[in-house]
Amino acid sequence: MSAQIIDGKAIAQKVRGEVTQNVAEFVARLGRPPGLDVVLVGENQASVVYTRNKEKTATEAGMRSRLHKLPESTSEAELLDLVRQLNADPNVDGILVQLPLPKHIREDRVLETIDPSKDVDGFHALNSGLLMSGRPALVPCTPLGCMRLLKECGTDLKGARAVVVGRSNIVGKPMALLLLAEHATVTIAHSRTKDLPAVCREADVLVAAVGKAKMLGADHVKPGAVVIDVGINRTDDGKLCGDVDFDAAKEKASWITPVPGGVGPMTIACLMYNTLLAAERRLTSA
Ligand code: GUN
Repeated sequence: MSAQIIDGKAIAQKVRGEVTQNVAEFVARLGRPPGLDVVLVGENQASVVYTRNKEKTATEAGMRSRLHKLPESTSEAELLDLVRQLNADPNVDGILVQLPLPKHIREDRVLETIDPSKDVDGFHALNSGLLMSGRPALVPCTPLGCMRLLKECGTDLKGARAVVVGRSNIVGKPMALLLLAEHATVTIAHSRTKDLPAVCREADVLVAAVGKAKMLGADHVKPGAVVIDVGINRTDDGKLCGDVDFDAAKEKASWITPVPGGVGPMTIACLMYNTLLAAERRLTSA
């Protein structure tokens, strides 16, 4: 039997609709829209597209949004200056510095300079620490989106076996913590995990976040598992594909996300959610 498809595009649209409605209500109550400032350093092609979409989506949701485009030659001190200016601006609720940064700029330095209350990426050590201790403040957008997808397809996480393949700070680690907070029994697997297929076959919920095209196939999927594919890769012939071999895995899974149209659209929708949440907290101490 073939799996049901988790339609990330439709669910992201629903989340954006909810945010748009809540933004209108926020403006009526507090007299100004939530503000998102996106910072792009250099001209990485993917980053140019992502940041443009972030700014545009925020505007469409009724927020005030600005894209700060800085040249590749920007120094770390200049970037930190801009971050500090945005920290001090009361009309800025969310600050997002697009990664990766040019090599001469220390990413950690920049992320740690962002005011944690405006850290809509959830990458600041304070926010990851709060997530670790079960008191989440601002949670990274991609794992937040994955959790919403699991909820939308009715996955019961309590006591479920979840395997997250990938241990990045942006996806793998926060994803594991969010699943744990919902009472799943969680394993983080990675490139050095022994007998990865056997570990993955334990999973009622399998999350792939490794960044390797079609790395997980039918052999990695337990019959009836829910499969969430975070990967965005290109095959040799230039087609987009995930970390999961979709055609093979869908014959065993109960639910599966496609690439594109699965997790991808959720990340930006959750960024909108986080920006509104940050604004709400900052203005009302909620
Ligand atoms: N680069 C790739 N994904 C992301 C993200 O979610 N946030 C930021 N700031 N940069 C990224």
